[in-house]
Amino acid sequence: MILIIDFGSQYNQLIARRVRECHVYCQIEPPHIGVDEIRTLKPEGIILSGGPSSIYEEGSPKIDKAIFDLEIPVLGICYGMHFMVNALGGTVKGAGKREYGFAELVIDQAEGLFKGVDKRTTCWMSHGDSAEKLPAGFENIGSTENTEAGAIFHREKKFYGVQFHPEVEHTSEGRTMLRNFLSDICGCEQTWTMKSFAQDAIARIRETVKDKKVILGLSGGVDSSVTALLIHKAVGKHLTCIFVDNGLLRKNEGEKLEKVLKQHLDINIRFVNAEDQFLTPLAGVTDPEKKRKIIGKVFMDVFEAEAQKIEDAEFLAQGTLYPDIIESVSAFGGPTAVIKSHHNVGGLPEKMKLKLVEPLKYLFKDEVRALGEEIGLEDELVWRQPFPGPGLAIRIIGEITKERLSVLREVDAVLLEEIRKSGYYKKLWQSFAVLLPIKSVGIMGDQRTYENIAAIRAVTSTDAMTADWARLPYELLGGISNRIINEVRGVNRVVYDISSKPPSTIEWE
Ligand code: XMP
Repeated sequence: MILIIDFGSQYNQLIARRVRECHVYCQIEPPHIGVDEIRTLKPEGIILSGGPSSIYEEGSPKIDKAIFDLEIPVLGICYGMHFMVNALGGTVKGAGKREYGFAELVIDQAEGLFKGVDKRTTCWMSHGDSAEKLPAGFENIGSTENTEAGAIFHREKKFYGVQFHPEVEHTSEGRTMLRNFLSDICGCEQTWTMKSFAQDAIARIRETVKDKKVILGLSGGVDSSVTALLIHKAVGKHLTCIFVDNGLLRKNEGEKLEKVLKQHLDINIRFVNAEDQFLTPLAGVTDPEKKRKIIGKVFMDVFEAEAQKIEDAEFLAQGTLYPDIIESVSAFGGPTAVIKSHHNVGGLPEKMKLKLVEPLKYLFKDEVRALGEEIGLEDELVWRQPFPGPGLAIRIIGEITKERLSVLREVDAVLLEEIRKSGYYKKLWQSFAVLLPIKSVGIMGDQRTYENIAAIRAVTSTDAMTADWARLPYELLGGISNRIINEVRGVNRVVYDISSKPPSTIEWE
């Protein structure tokens, strides 16, 4: 296990990805983690990440210096290196100008971190400060034109510092360096796989839950489905899933999901039809935030009422993922937790006095899919595109009515059928339709029409934080438009959304 200390670099998740690609488990923790806690985690190595701060700046993030007495190898990257140099008695200087971009690293000692790396190799720099006087026992092992201390190490203690970022693709041999650190320097066995993760997770859930009962809000998305299957494998019928049909789902979604889940998984599932409970308070509401608030509140009420019926429930399971819980460090304000409340059951655990079970909380989205495949989840569920909790309500601009829901459902069904047929479904982060609150004039046969406009949105993304509109082939877009206008009554015009996030968002509301 490798511990990554988060000093706020934008590349932190990338460090974790690279480590896991080497089949070594890792965890990102904030700098205020205590040394005792580190001892209990038993890491084989520590990586100190980069960060936007300058080491001498007031409030710059710091970790207890006692980590250097743990007799564990340490790799400091950029700010992490400066922290190590400063903590061990060296000095750091502010550079006259920032060095940003490609640089050639000239390596003095092609061993340890640099075993198998070219003597001259391309690396990626992004820094203002650099190490000046090295602490006792450290040697310089690589430089660039602008940075003397490009890479340093302490042979006996196995402390390494690099000024560049080995985790980014632009550092051409960064993967080799990280692999050297993990296997040769830290002695990690490269055995972490989804199979071992699944076995461990199932054992841990069993140990935690024992013979008590677990409730899970199932949305039909990949995260909650994988969570359900994993917990079911651990405690079988002690798990009860609740699926709330809010009347804002896509065409036949509830029925299809029920079929897939019941056919393949022998899981306890309660389907709650709450269409009217959602649509009644939504009548006449056009403000996007108001819609979201109403849906969130009704969901809580419906879910809680159903959960109350399950006697002796002690645990609430959630499909929280790693990017949702990673604590990041802001440049000046110290550690700040960025936590997205998931699946709209935010306050429920406290209210119902339930303990949380979050077996996916150290995984990234693509790892969750790999885990789903590993434990035998249906392909259809593993590869589902994300669908927002408030459903079609935030894809109908303006008032939500049963008629408008029905039009959007038909449009969306045609769109998804065509996207699936074209082979694009898995390549896109999301593809969906939005119903606009304006009408336009058209002509059908000899008749004038005055009907709705549907917008198509298709985006590529890796984490939904940023997204780009998908360059779908014109033929595919043309085919989608033809089918929608011909087959869906009430739509006579289709437009394609060509906005990226930022500045737009993925959903329209
Ligand atoms: P935006 O529209 O903010 O969306 O770019 C980012 C991602 O989050 C999804 N999304 C939601 N998911 N509850 C959810 O579970 C919500 O209220 C919600 N709103 C947006 C959206 O589909 C996209 O994948």
